[in-house]
Amino acid sequence: MPVNETERRTEPVQLETKTSGGPQARTETETVIRLSGVDIHYGKVHAVRDVSLPVERNRITAMIGPSGCGKSTVLRSINRMNDLIPGAKVTGEITYHGKDIYGSGVDPIAVRRHIGMVFQKANPFPKSIYDNVAYGLRINGMTDGLADRVERALRRAALWDEVKDNLKKSALALSGGQQQRLCIARAIAVEPEVLLMDEPCSALDPIATARIEELMNELVEDYTIVIVTHNMQQAARVSDSTAFYSADVDSAGERYGFLVEFDDTQRLFSNPSDSRTEDYITGRFG
Ligand SMILES: Nc1ncnc2c1ncn2[C@@H]1O[C@H](COP(=O)(O)OP(=O)(O)OP(=O)(O)O)[C@@H](O)[C@H]1O
Ligand SMILES: [Mg+2]
Repeated sequence: MPVNETERRTEPVQLETKTSGGPQARTETETVIRLSGVDIHYGKVHAVRDVSLPVERNRITAMIGPSGCGKSTVLRSINRMNDLIPGAKVTGEITYHGKDIYGSGVDPIAVRRHIGMVFQKANPFPKSIYDNVAYGLRINGMTDGLADRVERALRRAALWDEVKDNLKKSALALSGGQQQRLCIARAIAVEPEVLLMDEPCSALDPIATARIEELMNELVEDYTIVIVTHNMQQAARVSDSTAFYSADVDSAGERYGFLVEFDDTQRLFSNPSDSRTEDYITGRFG
């Protein structure tokens, strides 16, 4: 539905936020990942500046903000995916259980095994459903009980019942939502602790989206999740903490992204401490 000026709200949006069964009820939190003063360059461009935030265990952390403010850039820095982009450079510190993931001697492949990723567009390999899930297990040498591991991952990703009789079928023949759940199964097969998701529902219809959101609520019992989403309602529905990013232009005319505010999701949406957050969530932004 198009939103015009008169329909835009001027008060903080009272979005339905996660209330039951979620980690908000938990008293203990444990920081799994911590970003401290993180700066990210692409060549000479200083794209993201000075981001600091904790990622807590068995919680869903959402990253929201306008296009180009650096959400994907920050997300990729958390499992060293930016290493694969020529010219990308991450400075500051990102720790995983207190250890600097960019420290000397740290193997980025090992980092990515502990911190898996799911992308915006489902990207199954042109292989069978089974081989898609088995792929990471094979390259990581996790082949004992391979079939059981594949089944467990497909069950965990709420896909098993739909594919169990067709495991040899091409993954490309699945629907978009099934492909995305397959990519989640592929990511969790190697038993990571953290799942990074970059707009995992943006190519999906509302029913497939609801399915993935439901799945995230189940997965957070076992995993720590960081999700980038354009959809504020989604952030409000699924996440426990939210990081709001924005972009600005510096005195030299260079555009950069930065973290405006990080807080419990409920508080960020109902009582933001920064007027820029309030403007964004009430639709006054831009
Ligand atoms: N591979 C790249 N090479 C050079 N610059 C890049 C690259 N990827 C992103 N950038 C730049 O970094 C900045 C942040 O981009 P990023 O994709 O992280 O934003 P985003 O918040 O994820 O946006 P969107 O909501 O549109 O996905 C932008 O100015 C973008 O042009
Ligand atoms: Mg992005």
